[in-house]
Amino acid sequence: MLELRFTKQKRTIKAEKGETIRETAIRNKLSIYPHIFKLLNCRGRGLCHSCAIKVVSGDTEPKNEIENQQLAGKLKENPELRLACQVKVLNNMTVETHV
Ligand code: FES
Repeated sequence: MLELRFTKQKRTIKAEKGETIRETAIRNKLSIYPHIFKLLNCRGRGLCHSCAIKVVSGDTEPKNEIENQQLAGKLKENPELRLACQVKVLNNMTVETHV
């Protein structure tokens, strides 16, 4: 089991290697979505970019094509942005949601 720490929520939860950050958060009843996007999101299909996070620490795979497309307008300002529904947990990580 790996550990996934959420800085804003001040919570550390257990994660299965290979599941996404979104899947881990949902399984642990931790919301990663801001405001109305708790209800109105694409359910992890990479279409809405409401699950944007910042990876504070931990290794990840490179951004995939979905992330590059969905975050294209924001990556110049914040190149560390990722989509929680696309990033797999590969090791212990710390992330910041609602960015
Ligand atoms: S949940 Fe919509 S892009 Fe991640």
